[in-house]
Amino acid sequence: MTYTRIAGTGAYLPEKVVTNQDLEKTMDTSDEWIRERTGIRRRHIAADGETCSDMAIAAAYKAMEMAGIEASDIDLIIVGTVTPDKIFPSTACIVQRRLGIHGCPALDIQAACSGFVYALDLANRFIQSGSAKNALIVGSEMLSRITNWEDRTTAVLFGDGAGAAILQPSDEPGVISTHIHSDGQYEDLLQVPSGIALGYDAVCAEKAFIQMNGNAVFRRAVATLDSIARETLAGNGIDKHDIDWLIPHQANLRIISAAAKKLDLSMDRVVVTVDDHANTSSASIPLALDTAVRDGRIQRGQLLLFEAFGAGFTWGSALIRF
Ligand code: UT7
Repeated sequence: MTYTRIAGTGAYLPEKVVTNQDLEKTMDTSDEWIRERTGIRRRHIAADGETCSDMAIAAAYKAMEMAGIEASDIDLIIVGTVTPDKIFPSTACIVQRRLGIHGCPALDIQAACSGFVYALDLANRFIQSGSAKNALIVGSEMLSRITNWEDRTTAVLFGDGAGAAILQPSDEPGVISTHIHSDGQYEDLLQVPSGIALGYDAVCAEKAFIQMNGNAVFRRAVATLDSIARETLAGNGIDKHDIDWLIPHQANLRIISAAAKKLDLSMDRVVVTVDDHANTSSASIPLALDTAVRDGRIQRGQLLLFEAFGAGFTWGSALIRF
């Protein structure tokens, strides 16, 4: 049987950092409120003119370097994003062109904050079936472009960045299992209402920005992350105490802490980057993964649990022997 392994990881964060104190100067908020309610201290914000594909490529080169491959080795590209460079072609095709490679499948996945786990699930199937040998998967998000900087209930929450991984075949897992789900009935709780078919609404500019019922999303996120973790462990006959590292979607430290508590994991076995990155949607898990791989916390052979939750709602998990 062919399995999938993560051969390399990479990340990119824009240079510009916006702290909570910076936001205090432009809106009715406080560092104390943001830290207590979310755990966020600062976020990275893309420069004018910087694009989703710029960030994706920067993260991809780092992942390729760690995996010891060249761009020409890549035979599948999947980009999770809600902030593509263009309506079409896909950001994955733009990444492909800019990497100078031709012919392999390249596609975007729009699963909001679950985009990286969805990309991992799909790429894993390509590798297991023998259709890909060096898959590039990326979560890249420029949420600052769809954030209403006059709305304190959302503006303090989001940031920009990209994370990437190279997946390769292996004789041993690797990716032990992936689990992905959606339930479209929650569309109104977290959305950017403006769209292509519905029309851009220039009069009602806030429709172009993220709108969220924070409390309702919070409650759902906590319950769903618990159920996806249980589903993942039960499906593999694995005890929660066997997990070395929990790498959750980074939306809110209180959600992350609740997920860890339900798994009986102490916070020193949870990778937390929300303080430094804020919520970067599909980029948050690969950014956290790369952070803990490069600082030496995550070691080869350890058992990792990824868990994601986002707009749709979409949610998913992956159990990985790194
Ligand atoms: O990535 C996809 C998944 N997303 C999430 O998981 C996010 C889920 N939701 C959350 O993380 C939290 O619900 C928030 C961080 C968005 C909000 O935290 P909360 O504890 O649910 O606060 P709240 O919405 O109940 O607001 C409490 C108070 C309100 O004032 P009143 O009505 O009690 O007087 C808000 O107006 O805090 C006020 N408030 C703020 N105050 C200072 C809301 N935003 C701010 C702010 N600064 N930025």
